[in-house]
Amino acid sequence: MNDVPKHVAFIMDGNGRWAKSKKLPRSAGHKKGSETLRDIVEYAATLKIKYITAYTFSTENWSRPKEEVSAIMTLLEDYLDDALKKSKKRDIKIRVIGKLEGLSDSIIHKIKKLELITKDKPGLCVIFAINYGGRDEIVRATKIIAEKFKQGTITEITEEVFAQFLDTGNVPDPDFLIRTSGELRTSNFLPWQLAYSEFYFTDKHWPDFSKEDFDLALLEYANRKRRFGKTV
Ligand code: FPP
Repeated sequence: MNDVPKHVAFIMDGNGRWAKSKKLPRSAGHKKGSETLRDIVEYAATLKIKYITAYTFSTENWSRPKEEVSAIMTLLEDYLDDALKKSKKRDIKIRVIGKLEGLSDSIIHKIKKLELITKDKPGLCVIFAINYGGRDEIVRATKIIAEKFKQGTITEITEEVFAQFLDTGNVPDPDFLIRTSGELRTSNFLPWQLAYSEFYFTDKHWPDFSKEDFDLALLEYANRKRRFGKTV
């Protein structure tokens, strides 16, 4: 049996389909989806999971209708406001990966403030992937490394060195990836970091993903054989 995963990554898919099935606008699906994330975060904190990474907005999501992008951004800002309000009383640490450029000044300001005031919190670290694309992250890391190599501040490029320049820095790789809503792909999410992660797919739409569904997924994780490319 494996222990509870230290790091769980989520692709929170199916907000739109959930809304459609209830004849609601897509924004209602995202709203319910953000509530699901709140509940899962609170629950994960009680399970001694150390990191949660949530795919909140991809570099490709900008091509959605303007009203939908704006609804997600408003929900994101609400989430950040709420996290700021709760930050004194909670042990939760917040981090963001992805490109800040392109986000509104107000969101950037709130992200920086939250990261700063929660940086020494001892509890669960919640990482939001916002304006995030895995290939973009790898290219950005490569550019930094190339510059440092030219300057001579890096003389050897190993996997460990490379990983330090990804947005995830010193965060351990996810042990477990959960994707809701039945799609069987990873959609440019953490391509480097998921190399040895266990994957779990469920047909449930993200707004319907409950603590019980999370428990089921964790039970399956506990019974997986992790070999990391070695023999049993
Ligand atoms: C996928 O559903 C989900 C997203 C594009 C973004 C994830 C956003 C949330 C969970 C809500 C916002 C949360 C926060 C914390 C701000 P989809 O729209 O692709 O669903 P579909 O495939 O059924 O259309």
